[in-house]
Amino acid sequence: MQVNGNNNSVISDGQLIELATRARELAHAPYSRFSVGAALVTSDGRVFTGCNVENSTYSLSVCAERVAALKAVSEGALQIARIAVVADTENPTPPCGSCRQMMWEFGKPETEVLLANLKGRVHKSTLAELYPLSFDSSFLSLL
Ligand code: THU
Repeated sequence: MQVNGNNNSVISDGQLIELATRARELAHAPYSRFSVGAALVTSDGRVFTGCNVENSTYSLSVCAERVAALKAVSEGALQIARIAVVADTENPTPPCGSCRQMMWEFGKPETEVLLANLKGRVHKSTLAELYPLSFDSSFLSLL
């Protein structure tokens, strides 16, 4: 399977979770010791992965979801169709508020969000379910 910008027309939920699990192994999380991986498919069929990248200043740390989204956008892929997030928690780890806002900017209400742990537990929802009453460009008077 090819990742990071190459075409993947059909990718199963399990494969996307597997890619997020592999991305998690690259996490730079020496401060929290909480490793997270993400893998997303864009509307043009490309796959991008990310892991959390922490910093000694703490506040510069970036979540796995945002790393994957920034990689996708910086390669010209503007719409997230599906995303998987993997962490080693009993209940699958939900994205933080900043990541939900970032996904809202580059996703759709129906974007599929798969949250999984390392034991195969999966929570599947849409972005609209995860992020109700969201802010977006429609509220900006300059547009
Ligand atoms: N983290 C993520 O990467 N994604 C999430 O969905 C939750 C939290 C990261 C941020 C930080 O590096 C560590 O997990 C602990 O909060």
